[in-house]
Amino acid sequence: MTTETVTVPLGSRAYDIHIGEGLLERAGPLLAPLLPRLRTVVVTDENVFAAQGARLAAGLASANIDAEFITLPAGEPTKSFSELEGLIGRLLDLGVERNDLVIAFGGGVIGDLTGFACAILRRGCRFAQIPTTLLAQTDSAVGGKTAVNAQQGKNLIGAFHQPSIVLADITALETLPIRELRAGYAEVIKYGLIADRSFFEWLEANSEQLLSKGDANKRIYAVKKSCIAKAAIVGADEREQGARALLNLGHTFGHALEATFGFSDALLHGEAVAVGIALAFDFSVRQGPCKAEDAARVRAHLKKSGLPAGISDLPSSKTLTPDALMELMMQDKKVENGKLTLILADAIGEAMIAKRVDVSDVTDFLKDATAR
Ligand code: NAD
Ligand code: GLY
Repeated sequence: MTTETVTVPLGSRAYDIHIGEGLLERAGPLLAPLLPRLRTVVVTDENVFAAQGARLAAGLASANIDAEFITLPAGEPTKSFSELEGLIGRLLDLGVERNDLVIAFGGGVIGDLTGFACAILRRGCRFAQIPTTLLAQTDSAVGGKTAVNAQQGKNLIGAFHQPSIVLADITALETLPIRELRAGYAEVIKYGLIADRSFFEWLEANSEQLLSKGDANKRIYAVKKSCIAKAAIVGADEREQGARALLNLGHTFGHALEATFGFSDALLHGEAVAVGIALAFDFSVRQGPCKAEDAARVRAHLKKSGLPAGISDLPSSKTLTPDALMELMMQDKKVENGKLTLILADAIGEAMIAKRVDVSDVTDFLKDATAR
């Protein structure tokens, strides 16, 4: 079985991302060298526990690691202050020490919540990411952004706290609902659009095999390419003082849409990012020099992948007004002195950071986009 390893180059805090098949069964031997004592706490959600919990439990037991599972409700509402408080209480009750290694086992919700809990537990304890969604394997489990949501918006309370290791077992994706797989694929497309046109072209040619049960080697390749791209950006700009903001392509529009739908299953994070990417390309065409054909090509690939690619593809349960969307966009963490920073693109594979974007330009654009 092929296992690929990508290192996130962060000096003394560098860590490896292992990508392959059967890593859950091998989790015990892979994690044991990082454990000061043969015990751990695994934080997961009820779906992941039901679908993949036995595999991880057996993998840990094979190295005599005593594992206590904490199983939380599935879904974005779990990334909340109240769940955070409950989780921290349970970790403290279980006597987790600063040098212990807690395991985040699930998608981005469990990874972000557990990572944040570990960032503040006893002023910081170690954790491992064992991501089980395509989104988490290619994005959220890597790079150390951890957070919970606030009433005012997404991921507004959090910390940078890097994991000690990431195990991305692509066979865990076999039980992931197809809608979730597609939503995660939006983040994979993102890497091609930011800086790697040839990867985008590879995705155009291979997305069907990736999204159907598919060829394991192609899935490993796509996860590896995504992790290499993310590791390079995080290694150069861990705390998002510059280039890391590129990873937010589609996210400022996307987060506003997610908030509009109440961070619910009506619109998944990756689906909101897909629409956000399409809007970012449309706005880039308006601002120049991005060509309309590039925006159309991006939209076509999103659609072919079963993703929403515009406001008109969103569920009709909410009326979207430009002013309400704008108000939500102004909560973005990249707003400076009341001006927006947007990630736009000069072309496919050439994303750039546009600072001090005129709010009225975006409002006019949203008027047109919501009128469609
Ligand atoms: P998620 O964690 O909610 O998982 C999606 C659904 O799939 C859940 O119902 C979960 O229970 C289920 N599931 C997960 N793995 C499964 C498996 N193998 N088999 C069966 N069911 C499974 O969602 P997500 O898309 O992984 O993550 C979204 C979150 O990630 C958002 O909160 C977003 O803000 C965050 N995020 C964070 C970063 C970061 O850098 N920290 C980056 C991107 C996204
Ligand atoms: N997902 C965006 C980042 O990690 O910076």
